[in-house]
Amino acid sequence: MSSMVRFTLDGREASAPEGELLVHAAARHGVFIPTLCHDDKLDPYGGCRMCVVGVEGSPRPLPACATRVAEGMVVSTNSNVPAFRKTLTEMLLAEHLDPNPGGRPNELTDLAADLDAEAPFILPDAKRKEYEDRNRLMGYTPDACILCNRCVRYTQEVMQCSALSLEGRGPHARIVPTWERSWLDTECELCGGCLSVCPTGAIFEKFLEGTEQPERELVKTKTTCTFCGVGCQLDLNVDPETNRIVKVTSEPHYVSNEGNLCVKGRFAFNFVHHPDRLTKPMVRREDGELHETSWEDALQVAADGLNRVKAEHGPQAIGFLASARLTMEENFLIQKLARSVVGTNSIHSCEAT
Ligand code: SF4
Ligand code: SF4
Ligand code: SF4
Ligand code: FES
Repeated sequence: MSSMVRFTLDGREASAPEGELLVHAAARHGVFIPTLCHDDKLDPYGGCRMCVVGVEGSPRPLPACATRVAEGMVVSTNSNVPAFRKTLTEMLLAEHLDPNPGGRPNELTDLAADLDAEAPFILPDAKRKEYEDRNRLMGYTPDACILCNRCVRYTQEVMQCSALSLEGRGPHARIVPTWERSWLDTECELCGGCLSVCPTGAIFEKFLEGTEQPERELVKTKTTCTFCGVGCQLDLNVDPETNRIVKVTSEPHYVSNEGNLCVKGRFAFNFVHHPDRLTKPMVRREDGELHETSWEDALQVAADGLNRVKAEHGPQAIGFLASARLTMEENFLIQKLARSVVGTNSIHSCEAT
């Protein structure tokens, strides 16, 4: 366990585990320090300077997202820091030509609103070369990108691949899939993780399923991904006008996936609205055909069938097939039904072998 150190934060005595990042220590003491390039999932980076604070003895402000608390440190977040932050925000806005390409939240414009910052002018060379990718899931708009490198660092540090890189310098700088190929021609697995950590929405979902609503207007319902046994937690984002799922997101604090998803969990959700999908229980009747029915009736028919087989052939004649695509709780209930109600230990999972 790390030892505690004492430091001064805006004139107040504070304490923190030795080595904790200043941005986190300040947050625990109720002092919010805005960040743009920082992401708790990623290694400290210190690229955008939005989080700088004054530290006594340091000739220049230090980034709170990349500076660790030390014994006796004297930190100030309220001297000339707010003015610096506002100027930095205005500089970023001066080349932020497209603040909302795909309807995703934009932390830079949120910050600008908080700081009452506006672009003082638009830089003459602000316009960047457009980027078109032939994949059908994710787009990238260079004019929304603040070059914070979160996406590149995510693919390297979390996905452990090198699908994205920063190319060009100055006004020509952009994030592109490696060698400026399509995402489809790199190691990219289209997990959408780079999209999820992008603070400005420069990387965005291309499809949007016909919704006009920005992401913040969508209604989120937390659920468990049904595609595999990992059981990632995600939010189905529903357009309140059409009541249709239009995208999937996940939050960094969700257990067990910490906001990370794979391509299936993030993008393969539109089967839910497929017209061929069964949405009501069906029972095969005397005529040999399947007929829609109520859940009460379907469960009764299933229970009667199981009871009949058990009475005629004993419980060992019955086996249960569960699935790794169910939640752990559902699998627990199936084995409970098999063992405690029917009296058989014949339970198997399709993905167990
Ligand atoms: S979608 Fe996933 S694998 Fe592809 S570049 Fe983004 S983070 Fe990397
Ligand atoms: S695409 Fe997004 S995450 Fe990547 S550098 Fe640009 S703003 Fe940052
Ligand atoms: S998001 Fe991917 S890894 Fe997670 S549960 Fe769904 S299919 Fe499995
Ligand atoms: S958030 Fe700290 S330098 Fe970017």
